[in-house]
Amino acid sequence: MDVPGYALITGSGSGLGRACAQTFARDGAAGVALFDVNAEGLAQTKALIDEKNHISASGKPCRVITFVVDVTDEDQVSKIVSEVAQEFGRLDYLVNAAGVAYKHVGGAAFAESKEWLRVININLNGTFYMLKAAARIMLKQDPILSTFDGRPLQRGSIVNFASIQGYIATPLSTSYVTSKHAVVGLTKTASEDYAKEGLRINAICPGYIETPMTMDSPQIRAVMAEKIASSVPMLRAGQPQEIADGVVYLSGGRSSFVTGSSLVVDGGYIQR
Ligand SMILES: NC(=O)c1ccc[n+]([C@@H]2O[C@H](COP(=O)([O-])OP(=O)(O)OC[C@H]3O[C@@H](n4cnc5c(N)ncnc54)[C@H](O)[C@@H]3O)[C@@H](O)[C@H]2O)c1
Repeated sequence: MDVPGYALITGSGSGLGRACAQTFARDGAAGVALFDVNAEGLAQTKALIDEKNHISASGKPCRVITFVVDVTDEDQVSKIVSEVAQEFGRLDYLVNAAGVAYKHVGGAAFAESKEWLRVININLNGTFYMLKAAARIMLKQDPILSTFDGRPLQRGSIVNFASIQGYIATPLSTSYVTSKHAVVGLTKTASEDYAKEGLRINAICPGYIETPMTMDSPQIRAVMAEKIASSVPMLRAGQPQEIADGVVYLSGGRSSFVTGSSLVVDGGYIQR
């Protein structure tokens, strides 16, 4: 997938962030920095990558470093993103996978403001703080070269996790749907700001995917099973690897002319 540089992935202690981290390492990244609030999950992801002994595109082992970071803490984000860039020497890819889902009983009229703020803070503000911190570093560095064909490549590439719910809505999802629509908007406007500088910013919009987020909540699992049976043309849930492959495509050189876009990976759900 042409990702020879250094990646930072939030939410990589679980689910889709973990799959992305494993895929960067598999596809030749020089190093991956893993951010999550869950220290145990981070250690598991690191162990899963280290046991594979991946060799990067430059012939050296892929470096894996972990940080317990809360993406809603802007000062902490700014400080630790700088530390990562110093440690690696540059920062080529940022993936904003940290996120939470929540169902508001009774819908928008009865949604607790505390839960609304929590979801908006993690899914939207966290993505914004990470984007800011990484973009400031990426804009100052030289473009990386393609390992395949020498095409002029990027200074940096950012992939934000939106969702099919960045385009459509499901009931009782007041804060989640709002946050994901906003992530699509943030992606579009920020991509405009830096397109000519060689910083690309895109979003990924997964459909229903089997991860702890969807499988650990009986409520979300039940909605997902019903939706798959009625509305997903492929009649199945997606697997984390199918999302990670899309993210690594958007991050690397094969998508060199793609910016401001949202890649929907949903088994055909949205078109229906
Ligand atoms: N699973 C799906 O079907 C699906 C569909 C569409 C979009 N998404 C999006 O994909 C992303 C990843 O979801 P997932 O399914 O892997 O969920 P997950 O629950 O398996 O993983 C999310 C990770 O984010 C971390 N996290 C939560 N709050 C954080 C914070 N404040 N700071 C740092 N890390 C934090 C969690 O600890 C967890 O490790 C989310 O943004 C989610 O909204 C998932």
